[in-house]
Amino acid sequence: MTTPAQPADSAVWTRKHLLGLEELSAEEILAILDTAESFAEVSTRSRKKVPALQGRIVFNLFFENSTRTRTSFSLAAKRLSADTQDFSASTSSLSKGESFIDTARNIEAMGADVLVVRHPTPGTPHLLAQHVGCSIINAGDGAHEHPTQALLDLMTIRRAKGRIEGLTVGLLGDISHSRVARSNIHALTKLGARVILCGPPTLVPRGWERFGCEVAYSLDEILPRCDVVNVLRIQFERQQRGLFPSVAEYSQFYMMTQERVRLGKPDLLLLAPGPINRGVELTPEVADGLHSAILDQVTNGLAVRMAVLYLLSGRVEPGPRDGRDGRSRQ
Ligand code: CP
Repeated sequence: MTTPAQPADSAVWTRKHLLGLEELSAEEILAILDTAESFAEVSTRSRKKVPALQGRIVFNLFFENSTRTRTSFSLAAKRLSADTQDFSASTSSLSKGESFIDTARNIEAMGADVLVVRHPTPGTPHLLAQHVGCSIINAGDGAHEHPTQALLDLMTIRRAKGRIEGLTVGLLGDISHSRVARSNIHALTKLGARVILCGPPTLVPRGWERFGCEVAYSLDEILPRCDVVNVLRIQFERQQRGLFPSVAEYSQFYMMTQERVRLGKPDLLLLAPGPINRGVELTPEVADGLHSAILDQVTNGLAVRMAVLYLLSGRVEPGPRDGRDGRSRQ
């Protein structure tokens, strides 16, 4: 088994945690993408495993449901030869009153090197990073950030278009409640893309032009300018009240249909983070059509998560830590 050649610019990576893309530089984002390209090659081998994280333990702490992110991190860790363990919040001692931080510190005491955390409360991974010594990866914190989703979106765009800089990327739909949108905005603007936020006025936060984005309410008007459209899910579970009259009305104006695809450039690239609601945000024909890269995103997610685990693993000492400053006890 061989580890892929380490890209030269991965030397720019010095962080122990991946909490969000807001704090990363363009060089750091590119270092992850370049490292992911190396790991994508591993997935084409008949033996899809390298020994890079042998002896390390990666724990998945998911306090929200997940299909893609949890399994992708588990598989990524296994391909790097790490041991992996899923933590089930519903069957844990949290129900007996144990605090979230005590739970994490107990998991760390079992030797965890990396905690992959998804939680409905924004800032939870940042809080954990202050209380445990191992690496923390944000796998989605409320409506705040979902860094590895945005990184796999960028990898998919770069593979399809050969670049990020100079592209026009539309983020479509429920921007207000989308952690994917926030992470995409930070990364795309840092890498020189033009970002258009498009959706009903009630689902596009006011004042986001300050992040360097254009705000638009008519999908049909912006489509001819877009190189990429990232179709976001309506997050009914995070909405306090109905923010548009009906799903049918939303779909009439914002669902990506074949007719709307024809309004775009011939090489329009369509992304969607998933889960997708067919017939709400996009039609089945569009989801499965020639412009869609939805399943490529999932494939690329594995390489991105291998890259993130690999880069972070170089920043944390294996073995017992005191749970606060990350140093080994011995
Ligand atoms: N895109 C995404 O985060 O999917 P899951 O919720 O299934 O992990």
